[in-house]
Amino acid sequence: MQDSNPVELEILPPHEILDTFENINVAAPMVRFSKLPFRELVSLYDVQVTHTPMILATEFSRSSTARTLDFSTSLTERGSFLLNERMRSSSSNSSDNDLLEGESDRPTGSRRRQRRIRGSLIAQFAASDPKPFADACELIYPYVDGVDLNCGCPQSWAFQEHIGSWLLGHPERVRDLVRAAKDRLGFSYPVSVKIRVDPDLQRTHQLVETALHAGVSHITVHGRTKNQKSSHPVSLSSIAFAVEVARGRVPVVANGDAWSLPEVETIRKTTGAQGVMSARGLLGNPALFSGYDETPPSAIKEFVRLSTDYGLMFPLFHRHIGFMLESRFNKLERLYWNTLPSYASVLDYLTEQGIDLDL
Ligand SMILES: Cc1cc2nc3c(=O)[nH]c(=O)nc-3n(C[C@H](O)[C@H](O)[C@H](O)COP(=O)(O)O)c2cc1C
Repeated sequence: MQDSNPVELEILPPHEILDTFENINVAAPMVRFSKLPFRELVSLYDVQVTHTPMILATEFSRSSTARTLDFSTSLTERGSFLLNERMRSSSSNSSDNDLLEGESDRPTGSRRRQRRIRGSLIAQFAASDPKPFADACELIYPYVDGVDLNCGCPQSWAFQEHIGSWLLGHPERVRDLVRAAKDRLGFSYPVSVKIRVDPDLQRTHQLVETALHAGVSHITVHGRTKNQKSSHPVSLSSIAFAVEVARGRVPVVANGDAWSLPEVETIRKTTGAQGVMSARGLLGNPALFSGYDETPPSAIKEFVRLSTDYGLMFPLFHRHIGFMLESRFNKLERLYWNTLPSYASVLDYLTEQGIDLDL
């Protein structure tokens, strides 16, 4: 669970969190769904890095209305976490005081410590032209810990606009976009890319190499190709291939089919990635990284509080709770659920189901 003691809270960029600590969990960008209340909810259940939904850079840079509609944040959304450093060599500079209790039992040559870290928020953009991308990054950068370039959206309208998965076949454009953001915000500003794997892994190799040369700070790899449906099993070996290409240079986040904590552990071990990202798994169970098999009532209660505090529009609120209850519905219950027309009717339904909302 999230650690609420604010003492000695360190603020690190996302790639450093991924690089430095064990078991980093990531909430995926999801159009419509990864908005502020949902991001804050998952930060209460062991998600250290969250993403906004994909934002169209051109619209965002041009229109203040788009900015208001597409992005909101709060001081509390990221949460704080007590994290274990990865094992590292005893030749590093840490003092013996940093060692964990029981550390002396560890094999010699390895040491690690715990640190309290603020979670990270990444804004994801869809872009094709470097200038609007750099403009959008400049506008959002005071409010987030990094920006991510979407190189995976497979929808045909996106392909026609030369955004999303179109970029997979145009590494030179990825390079230009990443460099434009870095030229504007400074080389150390975190800019990541989220890619899909290619059936020809040499093309994945080339894309990763190009992104690395452009200066990306980390890479998320969705282990499906752009033509594979979300029902297609994810290729962990393709993700592991990308991890190998990037090894020692930037951390990698593995994405695809993380539905439960045991699956998360398998993905971590099989791919060697520094982080694991979930999208649909978290929608159905926002507490999955904390080891829950299904959404605990406490998460539903928190989501009701966050949604009412932040004013989440009813259709989205209803959809989210529907996802969270999905595994418990029978056919009739789902039909009835779909007829509920208002916040009040949802709250009544939850109370009738025995979920204590403490309103
Ligand atoms: C509702 C929904 C919205 C999504 N929106 C985005 C998005 O905005 N940007 C993006 O890069 N991927 C988006 N994706 C893809 C996910 O981030 C993720 O790559 C994909 O669902 C595979 O992960 P999963 O198997 O854990 O669901 C979306 C997926 C879903 C289900």
